[in-house]
Amino acid sequence: MNQPINTPLLSVKELSLRFGGLYALNKINFQMHANETLGMIGPNGSGKSSFVNVLTGHFTPLCGEMVFADQSMLGKSSNQLVEMGLCRTYQAVRIFGNLSVQKNIDIARLLLVENAISSDQYSQYLDWLKLTPILTKLAKDITLFEQRKLELMMRLVLKPKLLMLDEPVGGLATSEVNEMIQLLKELKAYCSIFVIEHTMRVIKELADRVVVLIAGEKIADGPPTEILTNQRVINEYLGSAHA
Ligand SMILES: Nc1ncnc2c1ncn2[C@@H]1O[C@H](COP(=O)(O)OP(=O)(O)OP(=O)(O)O)[C@@H](O)[C@H]1O
Ligand SMILES: [Mg+2]
Repeated sequence: MNQPINTPLLSVKELSLRFGGLYALNKINFQMHANETLGMIGPNGSGKSSFVNVLTGHFTPLCGEMVFADQSMLGKSSNQLVEMGLCRTYQAVRIFGNLSVQKNIDIARLLLVENAISSDQYSQYLDWLKLTPILTKLAKDITLFEQRKLELMMRLVLKPKLLMLDEPVGGLATSEVNEMIQLLKELKAYCSIFVIEHTMRVIKELADRVVVLIAGEKIADGPPTEILTNQRVINEYLGSAHA
């Protein structure tokens, strides 16, 4: 990934986001390194999606610094950030339901103007995600699990250095959650991963480090074993079930 050793892939300093009188994010400091898998957890409305929205150019921060792969992210559009190697998926799947799976992928590919993905790599991703048999189906007619895999494919063709996943197992059945966890473990070979989840199994099995947001503030940052037994995290988010 051409990152000097010990230089973070992503570095965020004193980042704040305000909606009217509400601080959705309040002076967040955060770093992640290439090849690290970061988990982000926290109660509903704690600012997790807002964090990804700011980092991927959807919202403008009130103040703060954001640096990705040694370049400032401030003022960059989502498309410029994609060109830099930063991609994300959405909490609710965003695909073109009335177009075929193939067309959805073709449209996603258009976003990368230069250095398109090689045909070998493209075929490898299609096989890996088991999308080849459903390429001609309309995207609205495939299962949610297949739609989530399609969304992954639509980002992988953009050759991300970092993929930010907003609740990748939301709405999936238990067996599909298991399959998705396995896919995300394998995804680590292709890019760095930042994952927001309420399903702690995903966090336990995938994350090297976990960041906890509560009411827009980062209240903990550390390895999963430490975070999931942190008394404040249990009291204010997890409850006793995960302790
Ligand atoms: N576009 C917006 N305009 C105004 N307020 C917003 C907007 N987006 C988010 N908010 C508010 O910002 C706060 C953080 O919301 P956010 O969606 O980031 O939470 P979250 O941690 O992702 O929650 P969840 O786990 O339910 O997805 C909430 O109070 C939410 O109502
Ligand atoms: Mg959210």
